[in-house]
Amino acid sequence: MYVSTKEILNKASKEFYAVPAFNINNLEFLMKIIEGAVEKNAPVIIETSEGAIKYAGNGDIYRGARLFVKMVREFAETVNIPIALHLDHGKHMEFIAAAIRAGYSSVMIDASHEPFKENLKITKEVVKWAHASGISVEAELGQLAGIEDNVSAEKNVLIDPEEAKIFVEETGVDFLAPAIGTSHGAFKFKGEAKLDFERLKRVKELTGIPLVLHGASSVPEKYVKLAEEFEANLGGAKGVPAEEIKKCVKLGINKVNTDTDLRIAFVAGLRKHLKENPKEFDPRKYFKEGMNFVKEVVMDRLEFLGAAGKA
Ligand code: G3H
Ligand code: 13P
Ligand code: NA
Ligand code: ZN
Repeated sequence: MYVSTKEILNKASKEFYAVPAFNINNLEFLMKIIEGAVEKNAPVIIETSEGAIKYAGNGDIYRGARLFVKMVREFAETVNIPIALHLDHGKHMEFIAAAIRAGYSSVMIDASHEPFKENLKITKEVVKWAHASGISVEAELGQLAGIEDNVSAEKNVLIDPEEAKIFVEETGVDFLAPAIGTSHGAFKFKGEAKLDFERLKRVKELTGIPLVLHGASSVPEKYVKLAEEFEANLGGAKGVPAEEIKKCVKLGINKVNTDTDLRIAFVAGLRKHLKENPKEFDPRKYFKEGMNFVKEVVMDRLEFLGAAGKA
């Protein structure tokens, strides 16, 4: 079923589990995410960045957004689990408008790089606009370190829980992404992972709405090692261990954004296959191992986040 993100996340918030939101750019990752979720009988959120929409539409934003809606709806309407499609890190109004018009289930307005008051004002506008079309909204407060495509911040600025309370009340936003020390990409921490759990706990107490963890990939050693065995250079890669994410879920995280783990799993399988099968040039065959690793990551996350069996 193609459902609203709000329906998926409100249930998760009430029952203290989290639903992974997986970033996609193409058909192949989507196929495996759906397969994994069906096997786990779990709800799942598919999300696309502005970059993904541009890529799929070959520059035509409306076309890109429509393609993703059609693809996701086709899968969603033929299986018996709740599936939603979300715009990740919407920063430009054209993308938010395109997603709403094309039929996304929800959008993120990411004005986290702006000063608090400006972020609040922009988010409030988008909420008014999206809610008028029955679409729910995610916003972000504080900033993530790390640099990935158009998502960047010089340094970590963690969320202020008192500000979060005001922000949620005044904007009417449906879900909030609190910056608590994670960052995007494969190189999140120099040493041990360090997250501000106290801050997260306060944000949940003061807002009571579903919370979103960005930069939540675990960067599993298994796939990093395999990719490196086949000539990848991923030295220093480090993610958020599953145990730390589980603590976040106990404290009120209900949506766990995951992109990097799928990318690394896929590239490990792709590199392995190409190296071992130098005569292969059929993409349906050389994508296969990578796709199977994507499915493994999906199923593992659905399980440890507590989403398995919740469809
Ligand atoms: O948060 C960023 C996501 O990983 C999407 O990245 O802009 O490279 O598609 P992207
Ligand atoms: P990762 O880079 O840790 O997968 O984070 C993805 C994300 O936050 C997408 O919004
Ligand atoms: Na998002
Ligand atoms: Zn993110």
